[in-house]
Amino acid sequence: MSKLWGGRFQKETDRLVDDFHSSISFDRRLYRYDILGSIAHAGMLGKTGIIREDEAETIIKGLAVVLEEIEKGLVEFSVEAEDIHMNVEQILTDRIGAVAKKLHTARSRNDQVALDIRMYLKDEIDNICGLLRELQSALLELAEQNIYTVMPGYTHLQRAQPVTLAHHLMAYFQMFQRDRERLRDCYGRVNILPLGAGALAGTTFPLEPVLVAEQLGFAGVAENSLDAVSDRDFAVEFTAAAALIMVHLSRFCEEIILWSSAEFSFIELDDAFSTGSSMMPQKKNPDVAELTRGKSGRVFGDLMTLLTVLKGLPLAYNKDMQEDKEALFDAVDTVKKCLQVFRPMVATMRVREENMATAARGGFTNATDLADYLVKKGVPFREAHDIVGKTVYYCVGANKSLEELTLDEFRRYCPAIDGDVYGAISIQRCVEARRRLAGPAPDAVLEAIARAREKL
Ligand code: ARG
Repeated sequence: MSKLWGGRFQKETDRLVDDFHSSISFDRRLYRYDILGSIAHAGMLGKTGIIREDEAETIIKGLAVVLEEIEKGLVEFSVEAEDIHMNVEQILTDRIGAVAKKLHTARSRNDQVALDIRMYLKDEIDNICGLLRELQSALLELAEQNIYTVMPGYTHLQRAQPVTLAHHLMAYFQMFQRDRERLRDCYGRVNILPLGAGALAGTTFPLEPVLVAEQLGFAGVAENSLDAVSDRDFAVEFTAAAALIMVHLSRFCEEIILWSSAEFSFIELDDAFSTGSSMMPQKKNPDVAELTRGKSGRVFGDLMTLLTVLKGLPLAYNKDMQEDKEALFDAVDTVKKCLQVFRPMVATMRVREENMATAARGGFTNATDLADYLVKKGVPFREAHDIVGKTVYYCVGANKSLEELTLDEFRRYCPAIDGDVYGAISIQRCVEARRRLAGPAPDAVLEAIARAREKL
C-alpha cells in the first residue's frame, strides 16, 4: 500500500519499521474522536471557503458512514496505514474517492492527535468522576448505618483512641472528594482546542478554530501553536490524579485485608467478592482488595512513563510522544476497573460490630480521656500523662482494663480521682465527647454526612 506521505520516498518502508512505528493496535480506540474531530474540521473548511461547501458535505457524510462501519465491526484497520488518523483517511478515500484528499487541508496529525486525546480524556474524566461519586455515595450509606459502631482508631497500627466506623469511612469520602476536585480542575486544562496549530507553526489558511471548538464542546482555543502540539501536561496531570486515586484505594484495600483477617475479624467480605484457594479448602481470600492494591503500581508506572517520555523533548512534536497513549489508556482502564469492583465489594461487606467494639475496649484507648479527666481536676497535663502511664503499666501487670480498676486502685496513683471517673472514661463517652473539630461523635458525624451529601 502506498503511504499518504510517500511522495518524498523512492523505497517501500521496511516491514520491521512498519510494525515498529505503527500505533493502530492501540490508538484505534480513538476512532470516534478522530472522526468527530474531522467532521468539525471539514465543516469549518467549508464554512470558511477553504474548500467548497458541497465538498465539505460529501466528506462529512462519508465520515459518518465510516464511523458507522467501524462501529458495526465492518472495518479492518491496517498496520501499513500506521495510525488511526491515516487509517480513517484511507478508508474515507476508499468510500468517497478523491474529494477525501481535501480533508487534511490546514491540518497535521500533530494537532489532530492532540485533539483526539483531549476529546477522549474529557469523556473518561467524566466517567471516572461518575464512578467516584457512586463510591462516595455507597460510603455515605454505610457510614449512616454505622455512626454508633465503635472501633479502635490506630496510630502506628497500635490502638490509639476510639472512633466509629462511620468516622473512618468518612475519611475516605474526603479523599475521594479531593480526587474528584482534582480531576475537575484538570478537566479545565484538557478542555482547550489544539486544532489549527498544524504541524507546529499554524497554517496560512483563514481557519476559524472557534467554530470547531464550539462544535466539539471545547471551552477555549490554544494560544500558541508550538505548545498546542507539544503539550501533554494534561495527560501527566490526569495520570497523577489517577495515581492518587489508586493510593487512596490501596490504603483502603490494605485495611480491608487486615480487617478481614482472623486476627482482626472486623469485617467479612461477601462470598461474591472473595475467592478461594486451589489447595486449602478453608480459605476465603480478599483477592479483589489485594489486586486493587497491586494495580496501584501500574498507574504509578504510567505516570513515570509519561514524565520520562516528555522529559528533555525539544519542541515541537516528536515521535516519542506516540508513547503517551498506552500509558494514559492503561491509567484510565485500571482506575475504572478498580473503582467499578471496589464499590460493590465495600457495599456488601458484613461489619462485625461486636468485634470492633471489643477491640476498642481493649488496648487502653481511653487512656487519653483519663488524662484529660485529671486535667479537669486541676492536674497539669504532663503530670496527668505520667500518672496515667503508670496506671496503665499497673493494669498490664494486673491484666485489667482502666475501667475495671477500683476507686482505691485509681487513688493509689492520683488522689484527685472520684467516682465520676467511670463515666468519664467509658468508651462510648470517649467517642461522644469528641463532637467538635471534625471528630467521631455520632452527632458530629451526622452533620459531616449531611454536608457530604450536599457535595454529591
Ligand atoms: N500516531 C502519532 C502519535 O500518536 C500521530 C502523530 C504523528 N505525527 C507525525 N508527525 N509522525 O503521536
